Amino acid sequence: MSLLQLRDVSVTYRVASGEVPAVRGVSLDLAAGQALGVAGESGSGKSTLAMALLRLLPRDARVTGEILLDGEDVLTMKWGRLRAVRWASASVVFQGAQHALNPVRRIEEQIAEPLLVHGKATAAQARRRVAELLEQVGLPAWRGRNYPHELSGGQRQRVMIAMALACSPRLIIADEPTTALDVMIQAQVLTLIRSLIAEHGISMIMISHDLSVLASMCDRLAVMYAGQVVEHGPSREVFAGARHPYSRALSAAFPTVGDPASRLAPRGLAGDPPDPMHLPSGCSFHPRCDVALPSCASRPIELWPAGEERRAACVHVLPDPALPEDLPAGSGEVPDGPEDLSNGPGGRADGPGDLSAGPGEPPNGAHAVPAGAGGGGVEIGTGTGAGEQGADAVEHDIPVMRPAKEVQ
Ligand SMILES: Nc1ncnc2c1ncn2[C@@H]1O[C@H](COP(=O)(O)OP(=O)(O)O)[C@@H](O)[C@H]1O
Ligand code: SF4
Ligand SMILES: [Mg+2]
Repeated sequence: MSLLQLRDVSVTYRVASGEVPAVRGVSLDLAAGQALGVAGESGSGKSTLAMALLRLLPRDARVTGEILLDGEDVLTMKWGRLRAVRWASASVVFQGAQHALNPVRRIEEQIAEPLLVHGKATAAQARRRVAELLEQVGLPAWRGRNYPHELSGGQRQRVMIAMALACSPRLIIADEPTTALDVMIQAQVLTLIRSLIAEHGISMIMISHDLSVLASMCDRLAVMYAGQVVEHGPSREVFAGARHPYSRALSAAFPTVGDPASRLAPRGLAGDPPDPMHLPSGCSFHPRCDVALPSCASRPIELWPAGEERRAACVHVLPDPALPEDLPAGSGEVPDGPEDLSNGPGGRADGPGDLSAGPGEPPNGAHAVPAGAGGGGVEIGTGTGAGEQGADAVEHDIPVMRPAKEVQ
């Protein structure tokens, strides 16, 4: 049975100038013990979706659909139940979370706090658990006696991972966990995350703009564009044989982890993602698509079956993609389209666009907490206090781990 099921999830932010449809009709499943990667350019709705999963969005966000965690809808849970679920079931790790540590409290107190507050451990048990957690993220147990200012940024980020693991969550949502790292450290961190989730049988949703990182980490991939999932399927197949032109460009834009050759020829995508308040008609991707048909600008697009356990929102996965308006006048012939979009990354001929814009600005800036701390009245690692954006709000960052025993 699925641990997490998203059914037609949409998120709309209300802003002074109108409504921002940041996530539109997303349906996805995550099996227990599985890792799902969510990819897409900056602004495609990845962080909004991640925060919606545990109702961590600011109050100006309206969420519709169903988010079933073990069959129970997170969106209709009462506050007390939601708080318990956040602690017992899921943790969120955001970019730059190390800034969230309370500067005047020792590391060990901050890691132990959720265990003690929720009655999960006695003081002695909590001490042992803290030492164990620090070891797991590559820090010696004595570091627990330190204050945050005595640790490097990398060490503080590891502490945040230890905090995310503290209550033995079944699900970890990691939003751009390695974006700020250089390539060597990134690979070490990814190895560590992978081993931690495998060792503990934790399910994971990992978010990144880098499809190659996700392909190396996750069982399945979902590619988002303009708030929608445009392709999903087994990660190797989506990465190496994308059926949607956008996923194909995305997989060509980043080097394959561990493959020096692919680093030499990363190719990008021209143009910018659309403004969610002014989405193109028909297929949202059509203004940037080099294989668009005339009808793509107006016809309804669905996530059509695109192979075993795969779906793609592109007319070219249909047996007969062309509509009458796509045929050259009088000829009755279908115009040239791609014979096969599944021939892997690197097929795009036009110049590199900019896919390297990074994770984008978090909607409500600043510090991260494990999910349970988000406005629930119990705060760990909150230097400035979570919940400023409302009862369900959390601020986010990305904690980072390094596997080396002692770090700078
Ligand atoms: N708090 C907010 N208020 C209004 N718009 C927001 C807010 N947070 C995000 N957005 C908008 O929602 C869209 C998706 O943002 P986000 O989820 O951060 O994307 P990603 O994580 O893929 O970069 C963007 O257009 C962004 O500007
Ligand atoms: S539906 Fe049309 S515009 Fe959209 S990705 Fe496919 S070919 Fe391109
Ligand atoms: Mg983001």
